[in-house]
Amino acid sequence: MIAELFAWWRIDCLPAARRMGYRREAAALVVRHRRLRRHWADHLARTRAALLASARQATCARDAPKRAWIMGAGLLHDVPLAELLECFERIDLVDVAFAPAARDAARRHPGRVACVTQDVTGLIADPARDPRDAMPPLPDDAWCASVNLLSQLPLLPCSVWLQQGMAESGVERRGRTIQQAHVDALQQAAHACLIIECAQTHPPPGPADIDLLPGLPERLAASGWLPLDSWHWPLNPPGETELPEGRAMQAWSR
Ligand SMILES: C[S@@+](CC[C@H](N)C(=O)[O-])C[C@H]1O[C@@H](n2cnc3c(N)ncnc32)[C@H](O)[C@@H]1O
Repeated sequence: MIAELFAWWRIDCLPAARRMGYRREAAALVVRHRRLRRHWADHLARTRAALLASARQATCARDAPKRAWIMGAGLLHDVPLAELLECFERIDLVDVAFAPAARDAARRHPGRVACVTQDVTGLIADPARDPRDAMPPLPDDAWCASVNLLSQLPLLPCSVWLQQGMAESGVERRGRTIQQAHVDALQQAAHACLIIECAQTHPPPGPADIDLLPGLPERLAASGWLPLDSWHWPLNPPGETELPEGRAMQAWSR
C-alpha cells in the first residue's frame, strides 16, 4: 500500500487520465513489476527482443525511418532504449502516464528521447466520441510500436460506460472498436511492431484459456504482418492471486 502510494506520487499523468484511474493503474504496475521481477523477466526480455528485431528490420528498408513512436512506453519496463537509440535519431515514448525512468531517459538524451503525453484512443477526455474518429493520427515518418497496450486500451473507458449504464453488449462492441481502430492506425504506418496479449491462460487443472483478441492473429497474418515471436507471460504466478493466470503473448512486425 505504502509502496503504491509512493509510486503513484512519482508518476506524471494526463489530468483527464488521472481522473479515470490511469495513474493508480500505472503505480500498481510499477510495484507489481518490482515484486514479480523474477517471474516477468523472460516476458520483458522477449518483448525487448521483439521490439529490437522489428526496429532493425525497419532500419534495413529503403525508406528507413529515423524516428520511433513507441506507444505504451511510459513506464519503460520493456523498451530496449539504448539499442533503439542506435537505430533511430529520435525516440518518442508515448503514454498517458510516465514513471521517473522515462522522464530520466528523456533528460539524459535531450533532443533524442521525448516523453509524449498522449491518449492514443482520443477517448479519455470525451468518452462519448466514436472510437473510429477519435484516435489521433500516427506520425507518417516513424517506426510505430504498440507495446503490451492493446488489451489495456478499452479497460478504463469501458468501466466508465458500464458505470454510466450502457448495456454490456454495447460496451463490449465499443471496446473491440477501440482495439480495431488502434490496429487499423498501425496498419497505415510504413513500419510497425505490435505486441499483444492474445489469451488469458490458467495452469492445469484451471479453466480453459480465454481468447482475448478473437480472430486478430489471423487478420494480422492476412494483412501483411509477420509473426516475430510468441511466449507465455506468468502475469499472476502461484501465490500472487487466488487463481494463478498468465497471458499468451504474440509479437508482430510489418
Ligand atoms: C500494461 S502497460 C504496458 C506495459 C508497459 N509497456 C511497461 O513498460 O510495463 C500499459 C501502458 O499503456 C498505457 N496506456 C493505457 N491506455 C493508454 C492510452 N489510451 N493512451 C496512451 N497510453 C495508454 C498505460 O499508462 C501503461 O503505461
